[in-house]
Amino acid sequence: MAVQNLATDITYRPMLEGDLPTAHQLSQAVRWPHRIEDWQFVHRLGSGFVAERNGEVIGSAMCWSHGSDYASLGMIIVSPDAQGNGIGRALMESILDLIGERNTLLFATPEGQPLYEQLGFQAIGTVHQHRGTIVKPTVVAPPPGERIRPAGLNDRTKLIEMAAAGAGMPRASVLNELLQVADGVVLDNQGELTGFALIRRFGHGYVIGPVVATSVERAQAMISYWAGARVDSFIRIDVDDSGQLSPWLQELGLLQADSVVAMVKGKAPAPATGLQQFAIINQALG
Ligand SMILES: CC(C)(COP(=O)(O)OP(=O)(O)OC[C@H]1O[C@@H](n2cnc3c(N)ncnc32)[C@H](O)[C@@H]1OP(=O)(O)O)[C@@H](O)C(=O)NCCC(=O)NCCS
Repeated sequence: MAVQNLATDITYRPMLEGDLPTAHQLSQAVRWPHRIEDWQFVHRLGSGFVAERNGEVIGSAMCWSHGSDYASLGMIIVSPDAQGNGIGRALMESILDLIGERNTLLFATPEGQPLYEQLGFQAIGTVHQHRGTIVKPTVVAPPPGERIRPAGLNDRTKLIEMAAAGAGMPRASVLNELLQVADGVVLDNQGELTGFALIRRFGHGYVIGPVVATSVERAQAMISYWAGARVDSFIRIDVDDSGQLSPWLQELGLLQADSVVAMVKGKAPAPATGLQQFAIINQALG
């Protein structure tokens, strides 16, 4: 019986805009909820590689810059019928070459984690995905003297600053792109901002993130605001375990689904004291 040597028939090349429809099919094949628009969003901000077999895209990998010292990588997918042949590893090696010496963040599924460990990534935390449809909203009031209001154009610079402080790495390019597709609210204490939360279309409904605030109560106030504003819609939010929001999100009606391990190669981002990123943007950008 002839055994096809899959690994030798594969070519690797940079990802182009025209690859996104096939990359989208790839993410559907591994049951990821991304729409083509979600692929376009991450592609506008980053670069990637694809693995091709007989002209067909069977693997993807992407990376994004966060200033000159940090990068993140993700959208690492190998078609189910081609897995276990070294393609994931080869895609990772190409993307790590592109990233160079920068400190690199990723969020690992259980399938990806062994490979990332072999490539020098270390676990630094856990992110829990919560999702569901809110039927009856629970309102968490902001602290006395503070109010939730829509984020406006004049808030952009402050939002970029707070996002960077909460994530521990620069956020200007990501936030500028996000603000084209997301709605936002801020917590305003007589002109001083104590937090912000964005929401945008993603997958089967909406995703809340990032959520950056000076306290967990403030994060809850903004999350409950968006949940209340999107009653009867499917909502997803990916929260860092350190924020300890999971039990509260469960009560709100956003049930815990899969968790991923935050991993870093190099130096972990160091958030500023006083501000925390409770919910990430997505598992590609952190
Ligand atoms: C993770 C994924 C990209 C790996 O791609 P792949 O082409 O199968 O990986 P490779 O064949 O290059 O294997 C690389 C290493 O991963 C590990 N690995 C691969 N498949 C694995 C599995 N099912 N379970 C555990 N470890 C596995 C092995 O340690 C392997 O190392 P080895 O070559 O020393 O045995 C692929 O399984 C996939 O697309 N999964 C679904 C999407 C996903 O979860 N992506 C990761 C997002 S963070």
